[in-house]
Amino acid sequence: MDKIIELKNITKSFDGEVVLDSINLDVYDNEFLTLLGPSGCGKTTMLLIIGGFEEADAGDVLFLGERINDVPPHKRNINTVFQRYALFPHLNVFDNVAFPLREKKVPKDEIERRVHEMLDLVALTGFDKRSVTTPSGGQQQRVAIARALSPIPGWCCWTSPWAHWISSSARICRWS
Ligand SMILES: Nc1ncnc2c1ncn2[C@@H]1O[C@H](COP(=O)(O)OP(=O)(O)O)[C@@H](O)[C@H]1O
Ligand SMILES: [Mg+2]
Repeated sequence: MDKIIELKNITKSFDGEVVLDSINLDVYDNEFLTLLGPSGCGKTTMLLIIGGFEEADAGDVLFLGERINDVPPHKRNINTVFQRYALFPHLNVFDNVAFPLREKKVPKDEIERRVHEMLDLVALTGFDKRSVTTPSGGQQQRVAIARALSPIPGWCCWTSPWAHWISSSARICRWS
């Protein structure tokens, strides 16, 4: 099996307090990995470092064997479902899910097909034209999941998936 993501001696402190102390982790293709630990132990910080939204103080992040410490988030093949979703408020549901595909210059008809496949997966068929500011918290989370899963190939970091655990969550995990 291919090794997709590697953390090598990742260390991170905030305000002098060590949050991640020389962490090593290997993530393999098709692996479904869960980080479990008490609130504040550094789970989200670790995922944000993998996604490129936080910078480690020391250590390396490797993707398919290449060091990506200095690669910006949008150039990493890793997508994040944020705790507070971070949807684009000026874009509707369809355009939020289509965003990473447009960034990757995916052809228009493939974007159309892929977005509808993802909206179907998260049980939001028919929500395409809706504003992302009007759906419920659970629906917003599903838009964020659809957006993170829409690029292929892609690997997804999902922080606090139980914040709005929904009936389709188990289906999404199986599909992933
Ligand atoms: N940007 C930040 N600035 C200061 N402290 C932070 C920041 N991000 C996280 N922390 C602190 O780092 C610790 C780990 O946070 P976090 O990774 O969010 O934990 P978890 O996701 O495991 O609950 C906490 O003590 C938190 O307050
Ligand atoms: Mg967290």
